[in-house]
Amino acid sequence: MTDLSSKALNIEDLRQMAKRRLTKALFDFCDKGSEDQVAMRDNRAALDAIKLMPRVLNNTSARHARTTFFNEELGLPLMIGPTGPAGFVWYRGETQLAKAAAKKNIPFTLASTSNTAMERVIQNGGGTQWFQLYVWRDPEAAFVTVQRALDAGFEALVVTVDSPVYNNREIDVRNGLVFPPKVTLKTAADSLRHPRWLFGTAGKYYLAERRLPAFTNIHIPEEARASATGYVSAKSDSFLNRDDTMDWDYVRRLRDVWPKKLLLKGILHPEDAVKAADAGADGIFVSNHAGNTNDAAITPWDALPDIVEAVGGRLAIIADSGVRRGSDVLKALALGADLVAIGRATLWGVGAAGEAGASRALDILEAEILRTMAVLGVADVASIGREHIRLPGELPVSRSAKRA
Ligand SMILES: Cc1cc2nc3c(=O)[nH]c(=O)nc-3n(C[C@H](O)[C@H](O)[C@H](O)COP(=O)(O)O)c2cc1C
Repeated sequence: MTDLSSKALNIEDLRQMAKRRLTKALFDFCDKGSEDQVAMRDNRAALDAIKLMPRVLNNTSARHARTTFFNEELGLPLMIGPTGPAGFVWYRGETQLAKAAAKKNIPFTLASTSNTAMERVIQNGGGTQWFQLYVWRDPEAAFVTVQRALDAGFEALVVTVDSPVYNNREIDVRNGLVFPPKVTLKTAADSLRHPRWLFGTAGKYYLAERRLPAFTNIHIPEEARASATGYVSAKSDSFLNRDDTMDWDYVRRLRDVWPKKLLLKGILHPEDAVKAADAGADGIFVSNHAGNTNDAAITPWDALPDIVEAVGGRLAIIADSGVRRGSDVLKALALGADLVAIGRATLWGVGAAGEAGASRALDILEAEILRTMAVLGVADVASIGREHIRLPGELPVSRSAKRA
């Protein structure tokens, strides 16, 4: 079959391809944020408002984008962050993402709410893989999942801490979307309008397993099974509602049982970054979850400088939310991030064309990173620093005033 994604010139092209292939409900779940989409817009506005300071005549012909993270050499200053619906947008989509990441020699993070068994993704996907943990209504049950992830061979545990309650995603409620999926008149009509997804993904799962995709990586205790339904519109008494009892002691308990790298995802306050380091974390994701959790949250790009000042050197810092171009990646590094995570770019890629589409997303970002490095006059990413950017307040008065 021809790989349509090879025609994509940029990440937006992959987004449009995914939009055509996926059901409306699934595409909106991947594409939209919570409530009024303010945080999502702010993420882009914050990145766009940062300007690069090009340097010329530096002979960058030998430039490369390799970097070192957790003592490992990576092909790019990127990683693929956890996105729950990867296996819903493509048959075994998680494995396709892992393979694409392995080809570029960058880490892939498997989401708690994925539906291909973690052991299978590790085995078939290859490369460096991390596991992301959501903690549900029974915080003790999470320890069973953590042990399973350790046994399976994941290199790092990413504990998402910015979602103590389920996100207010009104768009999904309107679209009638729930996980595990339910067939209703509305969802059936949506599926029939998208036969490539219906037969290429849902149909393949049905043929292979005689059922629709389900959560396979969440430990649900026997007594909680009956209430473990309806993720997305999870009622407060559902097992699949998130856990609002989590605290720093809980992180310390996870630290005690997880001997490998431990990262907290969704830190936006410098004092929380300090607490993460004090609790024994190895790294943090400075992230507003791509605008999916708190629609009024500060952007990671505005939060990053204070966090780097507070904990730079004590913790590895990964930043994400809104990255669509190679220049965004370089801006993040200039702000002090050690690595940049991407969510939607590769999710749209895999939703458009499986592993080929995810690889296309990474190829596009790599080419843009290398091109932007040339115009910045740097030959390696370690040379990128604060001097390569100007924040809005540092631009000539007339320009920053106009922006405000
Ligand atoms: C559809 C979707 C599903 C996501 N699922 C998860 C998840 O299961 N766990 C998690 O920690 N983050 C999740 N995220 C957040 C991503 O890991 C990441 O923080 C974010 O997508 C980065 O922003 P970007 O998509 O603009 O690149 C999800 C994001 C999207 C768009």
